[in-house]
Amino acid sequence: MSYGLLKGKKGIIFGALNQDSIAWKVAERCHEEGAEFVLSNAPIAMRMGEINELAEKTGSDVVAADATSMEDLGKLFDHAIEKFGKLDFILHSIGMSVNVRKGKNYTEINYDWLEKGWDVSAVSFHKVMRTAWEKDCMNEWGSILALTYIAAQRTFPDYNDMADNKSYLESIARSFGYYWGERKVRVNTISQSPTPTTAGSGVKGFGGFLSYAQDMSPLGNADALECANYCVAMFSDLTRKVTMQNLFNDGGFSNTGVSQKVVDKYGE
Ligand SMILES: NC(=O)c1ccc[n+]([C@@H]2O[C@H](COP(=O)([O-])OP(=O)(O)OC[C@H]3O[C@@H](n4cnc5c(N)ncnc54)[C@H](O)[C@@H]3O)[C@@H](O)[C@H]2O)c1
Repeated sequence: MSYGLLKGKKGIIFGALNQDSIAWKVAERCHEEGAEFVLSNAPIAMRMGEINELAEKTGSDVVAADATSMEDLGKLFDHAIEKFGKLDFILHSIGMSVNVRKGKNYTEINYDWLEKGWDVSAVSFHKVMRTAWEKDCMNEWGSILALTYIAAQRTFPDYNDMADNKSYLESIARSFGYYWGERKVRVNTISQSPTPTTAGSGVKGFGGFLSYAQDMSPLGNADALECANYCVAMFSDLTRKVTMQNLFNDGGFSNTGVSQKVVDKYGE
């Protein structure tokens, strides 16, 4: 299904690691809707090489960049600017916690690992926007998005320090979004249902998260393709005045106290 919603639009998509990645689906959908873009991921993620398949399919260049490095980001944006001139959209689909990876409990987190994960998962969004800001490369009515999770507002044990990183990420969207308003560019975060991806599955008890959210959400969990469709809508001209928002794409989970399915599991 294609509506030509992004015809003529140019952008950068961060974070497509493999076919399960949300960013992978976003790239496929943006391509179907007529957009052109540069794909980027951390140099280490490139080693798997799967991103080249996506690049070929969508006719995109791939530029490696560690999203915590201003130098790498500068080179990436220069490449995109040389190719496209100004940009219309950016997707930040990046997350990583060393404490989650190494199974450290929240009460015992390693602070060096915390700083690393915070830089990768949250501050990198500021760095991406600052690079775009300093290069003045966004077209008016451009759209910048990052992906987040409801653990920023409510506690989910085992989401660990990623919960704090997501709170920080959402705050950056509001704070920088204010300044981007001067240039008629919008900045939002999409808070996505649990989704089986490499990053998602790395969280302890992920299967439980996923099934619980499915049972709690009146519409069921939103999958990666449904997230991609929402991203397309947010990059399109149909959402120009939506900015500085955290937008839930979660089948109603965030506003459900309890569902009948969950009550039934506990019996009378
Ligand atoms: N999967 C879920 O359940 C879920 C739910 C809500 C939000 N999200 C968010 O969606 C986003 C995408 O994650 P995903 O689930 O598609 O998993 P994923 O593992 O496919 O994507 C995470 C990406 O981050 C990239 N990355 C890590 N460190 C980097 C760095 N230093 N520089 C540049 N890129 C780096 C990885 O290479 C990878 O491509 C993340 O922000 C994640 O927190 C995921």
